[in-house]
Amino acid sequence: MRTQIVRAGKRSVVLGITVLVSQIGGQTPANNRALATFPAQQRPPGDPAVVARGKTLYTISCQSCHGVDLRGGDLGGPNLLRSQVVLSDKDGELILPIVQGARQNTGMPAIKMSTADEKAVAVYIHNVVGTSRGQGSPPDSGAPPPNVLIGDAAAGQKYFAAKCTGCHSATGDLQGIATKFPDAKALQNRWVSGGSGRGSNPDRRTVTVTVTQPSGEKIEGRLVRIDDFFVTVANPDGTLTTIRREGGKPNVEVHDPMRPHRDLLAVYSDKDMHDVTAYLVTLK
Ligand code: HEC
Ligand code: HEC
Repeated sequence: MRTQIVRAGKRSVVLGITVLVSQIGGQTPANNRALATFPAQQRPPGDPAVVARGKTLYTISCQSCHGVDLRGGDLGGPNLLRSQVVLSDKDGELILPIVQGARQNTGMPAIKMSTADEKAVAVYIHNVVGTSRGQGSPPDSGAPPPNVLIGDAAAGQKYFAAKCTGCHSATGDLQGIATKFPDAKALQNRWVSGGSGRGSNPDRRTVTVTVTQPSGEKIEGRLVRIDDFFVTVANPDGTLTTIRREGGKPNVEVHDPMRPHRDLLAVYSDKDMHDVTAYLVTLK
């Protein structure tokens, strides 16, 4: 009840402003409606070559999570057609920071690409949004769910040997992973996300830091907190040391054991994804 009153109040304030603006600008109500329609559909279509490049990049780096049609994918990325970020973005200024890692804490990894590539993906996304039937139109019905098990396990095994055995082993830490995750899609999610850390060895995921003072003195330990001004390190005895950072001094090196695992995400093709999943499924 209370919320309703507040909402009604807000709405009337907003209406008041609209009226004021339209009076100042001498706009008719019809003009206001035109301004209020979905701006992404009013943008001129992107350069077809850039759109095509963006599409390829999207397929490789975004599709597994955001879906073939941008409406959300197997790996939990949200629908980008309804995304306020996408709808508000003009020229990549909101999308690029997210691709660069602004949402890592909420599940969207940093994706390594050149700025030109990031922009091409943004142009592609805007192009799809601009040509879609309408804002947030419902997903096509009847499309069969993508089958994650269409890969070639032998090719996946080769890929695994080349890219993963530096950190994993089929007879060691990943032995029985397919028994732990009998559903192929859940297994693929576990692989791509690197797991939540639950049921795995926390030491393997600990982010550590080395701080080297100008004097050469080194402080090393688990990273507790870092920002532009301070870095806090947990010492082996459990005490914390906070060090001030100024003008790039002291030198701070963060070691995140999951980093290379996440960086690989930007490298997988669709085929790699399918092949590796088909292989992981055999690790019972
Ligand atoms: C591993 C899965 C994954 C991949 C790969 C991925 N994303 Fe995301 N993305 C997410 C998740 C999860 C979120 C939601 C994060 C949040 O709620 O803060 C997200 C959020 C976003 C958002 C913000 C949406 C909103 O409205 O809040 C944009 C834009 C976006 N992703 C674009 C991209 C682009 C472009 C790519 C490829 C270059 C990409 N993503 C690749 C998982 C992924
Ligand atoms: C540079 C090291 C590194 C590389 C390379 C790497 N990973 Fe990982 N991966 C990790 C770490 C660290 C974890 C977290 C392990 C933990 O929590 O016990 C992890 C987690 C996982 C998990 C979840 C394990 C579980 O028990 O839930 C899977 C599956 C996995 N990786 C598969 C792969 C595959 C497949 C590749 C190659 C395509 C790969 N990883 C490449 C470091 C790496």
